[in-house]
Amino acid sequence: MHILVTGGAGFLGRRLARAILARGTLAGPDDRQHPVARITLADVVAADLPDPRVSSLVGDLADPALLDRAFAGGVDSVFHLAAVVSGEAEANFDLGWRVNVDAMRALLERCRAPGTSPRFVFASSCAAFGGPLPARLPDDQMPVPQSSYGTQKVVGEYLVHDYTRKGFLDGRSLRLPTVTVRPGKPNKAASSFASGIVREPLAGVESVCPVAPETKMWLTSPATVVDNLIAGHEAPASAFGHTRSVNLPGISVTVRQMVDALRRVAGDAVADRVTWKRDPAIERIVLTWPADFEAKLARALGMRADADFESIVRAYVAESVRR
Ligand SMILES: NC(=O)c1ccc[n+]([C@@H]2O[C@H](COP(=O)([O-])OP(=O)(O)OC[C@H]3O[C@@H](n4cnc5c(N)ncnc54)[C@H](O)[C@@H]3O)[C@@H](O)[C@H]2O)c1
Repeated sequence: MHILVTGGAGFLGRRLARAILARGTLAGPDDRQHPVARITLADVVAADLPDPRVSSLVGDLADPALLDRAFAGGVDSVFHLAAVVSGEAEANFDLGWRVNVDAMRALLERCRAPGTSPRFVFASSCAAFGGPLPARLPDDQMPVPQSSYGTQKVVGEYLVHDYTRKGFLDGRSLRLPTVTVRPGKPNKAASSFASGIVREPLAGVESVCPVAPETKMWLTSPATVVDNLIAGHEAPASAFGHTRSVNLPGISVTVRQMVDALRRVAGDAVADRVTWKRDPAIERIVLTWPADFEAKLARALGMRADADFESIVRAYVAESVRR
């Protein structure tokens, strides 16, 4: 099989590619397992993943020439992860719509063209939801996003739904919780602090938390979300029912509980590097996101959540030591 991962040089794209390589097989249109012969990582930056099965394709997803190269020789499955993330899509309206919607539509058309109905896994987001919401969201909660990014994700979900209904592809839109802890530098996501308040103190650096300690978030670790992206690909089409949009499992944690977990793992000196200064621009986005979901369909599809935030911090520390 040839697997295309858009945003393949990103945080989750690289991890997903590594996990697929380790598995060695994925489900084909016949639901049987087939060896993964090739993975193409398409991104505006080069992906560094040394493996003879992996090629890095550098370019803008909105450029038809990149799609020509990506689809040359055929594509069996797509994981669509490339995106302009929340803070940037809010700051740059035109860029967000160009990449998150226009380029995605062009990608869906490429999937449609050969008539092979490839599996298409779309990384949507719990930012699809906003406004007044129940404390725990049922699977059938209507998404009413309160940001450009959330709106673009919902438009993407509807595209996936309609292309699937027409038989052009076999789509699965997975609404990801906030993924933490992300290594490296802060990014332009409004949720960037959810990693920063763990990563920076562990690296000996102060971190300013821009939301109040009682702010609740819906969280997952990178390892768990990658497993769930693969589970979303592997599930047979018949398992989905009337919707292809799935709220992924997560854990519901306040920011204070996150810092308390860091304190238990790394001690007072580390946790005390977190300081609090509310940023209205970040709060305006993050406080609209729901912090608890039933995620019944996801669990029925074999997806799972992390045990607790402490185990997420411990996994990050263990991984940092290996790096
Ligand atoms: N990480 C999270 O907490 C989280 C939460 C919810 C949803 N998601 C979604 O999951 C996906 C992956 O997230 P991530 O954390 O790995 O983000 P990331 O920013 O690390 O990766 C996204 C990648 O897309 C690439 N990209 C952006 N515009 C592009 C374009 N025009 N052409 C080609 N490539 C382009 C970027 O260079 C980047 O490498 C995104 O769609 C994101 O919206 C992530």
